Amino acid sequence: MKLLVIGGTGKTGRELIKQGLADGHVITAIARSPIKLKFDHPNFSVVKGDVLIPDSLEKPFQGQDAVLSALGHKRFFIKTTILSRGTKNIINGMNNNGVKRFICITSLGIKDSKFKLGLYYTLFTIPVILLFYFLDKSKQEELIMKSNLDWTIIRPGQLTNGKKRSDYKHDVKAGNYILTKMISRASVAHFILKNLDSNLYSRKAVGLTN
Ligand SMILES: NC(=O)c1ccc[n+]([C@@H]2O[C@H](COP(=O)([O-])OP(=O)(O)OC[C@H]3O[C@@H](n4cnc5c(N)ncnc54)[C@H](OP(=O)(O)O)[C@@H]3O)[C@@H](O)[C@H]2O)c1
Repeated sequence: MKLLVIGGTGKTGRELIKQGLADGHVITAIARSPIKLKFDHPNFSVVKGDVLIPDSLEKPFQGQDAVLSALGHKRFFIKTTILSRGTKNIINGMNNNGVKRFICITSLGIKDSKFKLGLYYTLFTIPVILLFYFLDKSKQEELIMKSNLDWTIIRPGQLTNGKKRSDYKHDVKAGNYILTKMISRASVAHFILKNLDSNLYSRKAVGLTN
């Protein structure tokens, strides 16, 4: 398939590109700094773009079969709308170019998975560190759910840089109220690529944990 990856310079995005190319997909990445992506592969290309600049998103969306987003940032203590504004622009870019399939990573702890990142996140990390980020992620999910796209929202537990596994759990009810469940970025990428043309989680949010 022809896949457009957003957030490809990030840790999960790199896994999506690496595993996607190994699976035989043709991958275009949108990156603010294309120089950061040095995949030497005939099926890979990178286009300079920023999800906050709608004009930079038009061309790379043309002719894609699916858009995969691993968009994120670390400006946790500032009230930003990067995720929701960026996602609105992504959805518009998809609509303008007739691309239907959208798989987007958010997080456990959002909306009906509230409190499911475990007690430590519920009582400390989310209210103290990630409050603005999670509010924006919640808006991001709302925009995706309201769209007419064939979307799947991926809600991982705490991400690790561990190895790819295939025995992880995926469920709309995944997560745990007490313990913080984890999953590797490589496993998240594996799940996304495995579900590209599956309708198991079409227009659903699915939790992923070990
Ligand atoms: N860390 C956890 O435990 C955890 C748990 C659950 C869910 N998640 C979520 O999982 C997702 C992936 O996490 P990660 O750690 O792989 O992310 P990451 O390494 O922080 O990567 C984020 C990506 O988003 C890109 N980006 C940011 N602003 C952009 C913009 N305006 N236009 C285009 N690209 C932009 C970054 O590009 P630049 O290189 O240009 O900055 C980077 O490629 C995130 O949404 C994160 O919140 C994380």
